[in-house]
Amino acid sequence: MSRSAHPAGPRHADVLPEGHYTAPPADLNALDAKVWSRTARRGEDGVVTVGGMEVTRLAEEFGTPAYFLDEADFRARCRAWADAFGPDADVFYAGKAFLSRAVVRWLTEEGLNLDVCSGGELATALDAGMPAERIAFHGNNKSQEEIERAVSAGVGRIVLDSFQEIVRVAHIAQEQGKRQRVQIRVTVGVEAHTHEFIATAHEDQKFGIALADGQAAEAVRRALKLDGLELIGIHSHIGSQIFDMAGFEVSARRVVQLLARVRDEHGVELPEIDLGGGLGIAYTSDDDPKEPHDIAKALREIVARECEAAKLRTPRISVEPGRAIVGPSAFTLYRVGTVKPLPGLRTYVSVDGGMSDNIRTALYDAEYSVSLVSRASDAAPMLSRVVGKHCESGDIVVKDAFLPADVAPGDLLAVPATGAYCRSMASNYNHALRPPVVAVKDGRARVIVRRETEDDLLRLDVG
Ligand code: LLP
Repeated sequence: MSRSAHPAGPRHADVLPEGHYTAPPADLNALDAKVWSRTARRGEDGVVTVGGMEVTRLAEEFGTPAYFLDEADFRARCRAWADAFGPDADVFYAGKAFLSRAVVRWLTEEGLNLDVCSGGELATALDAGMPAERIAFHGNNKSQEEIERAVSAGVGRIVLDSFQEIVRVAHIAQEQGKRQRVQIRVTVGVEAHTHEFIATAHEDQKFGIALADGQAAEAVRRALKLDGLELIGIHSHIGSQIFDMAGFEVSARRVVQLLARVRDEHGVELPEIDLGGGLGIAYTSDDDPKEPHDIAKALREIVARECEAAKLRTPRISVEPGRAIVGPSAFTLYRVGTVKPLPGLRTYVSVDGGMSDNIRTALYDAEYSVSLVSRASDAAPMLSRVVGKHCESGDIVVKDAFLPADVAPGDLLAVPATGAYCRSMASNYNHALRPPVVAVKDGRARVIVRRETEDDLLRLDVG
């Protein structure tokens, strides 16, 4: 929820701190299509269904907390990105947002490529049948073993992140008698308008090689000299959860300027540029994300314009959306355990998960919305904070939310738009068991990542 004018609207069951909150939504039972996946509906009996499955039944069958992934929504977003960029560009889904074998199969079927950034992600991708040439391997400190595996698997590209890595990858490729396709990740010096922890193109951080001081041009010079490498392009990722295209514009311009410099110095026109991921999604009704079609059009225009100015052939563009594909496709279902009104402040509603299944609120001050989904309610809006069950006061799932004032133990709450960076950043804090991911589609539900058990925890504890 964003902070703006004090609401003039209906009276609340709780007292609102002056000037901090927007008005509660006109209808607490409505599901905002911006933050929910496309098959979500509230039935006439008040129960919400997703993928044709009632949340009450899902909770009974799979327990709570649990993540439910709307397969049709996920596939539709893959197609929207692929269609928007067309056959002369490549869309790499960023697996760090959420990766499982089922997701890899859906991506493969929908014609997307995959960005992985660890041995574990690479193993999952290969195991589930993603063709190696459609995989990009990332990371600022890939291990020797990871590079060896990526090269021997035949990944389509390795994104080089340091001078040491240029030499390492070239050496490993030569040892294997190969020429590895690579890109060089550069930092373009853009201050992305997002949380500091997820901005990645300003100079004072660990990723990439700086453009500004000529380091990136030097990296290109070295990579071009090494027999083990086929340098196919330049990569730039400016950060995450970004709505403003201005950062991408500056980034594209600077990357194209580097291509022109490479052409002038080496007589080589690098054929590709990757502009990374980072496109924002709606976590609350106040967010206004762009459609893939508009993003593709804007990026294409920027690159074409800059190339024309530099008299370069337009390179093949690739992008790496993670959140924008999987984020809105899933929601987390929780059951309310306790409700604690703090007069004059707000009501704390405790659910059966928390910072172990969604660390984003604690880590980035992220905002989410929440709905009562097991029934409709006509009760007045109540200023609430949805909190988890961890031993930590920062264990907040949704910081500011309006829930119906009659919310009670046993009710089911859903937090939409949790498909990205929730299960993938989940932890076992307090020995919590990481929740399952259940795919829902056409009235059927199937576990794609099972719930952890106490046996799983104890198996690792070999002392
Ligand atoms: N490409 C590269 C090189 C990246 O580092 C990332 C994200 C992506 C693509 C995908 O970005 P997306 O489209 O999903 O925003 N854990 C944070 C986000 C960190 C993202 C790290 N890299 C979060 O929960 O917001």
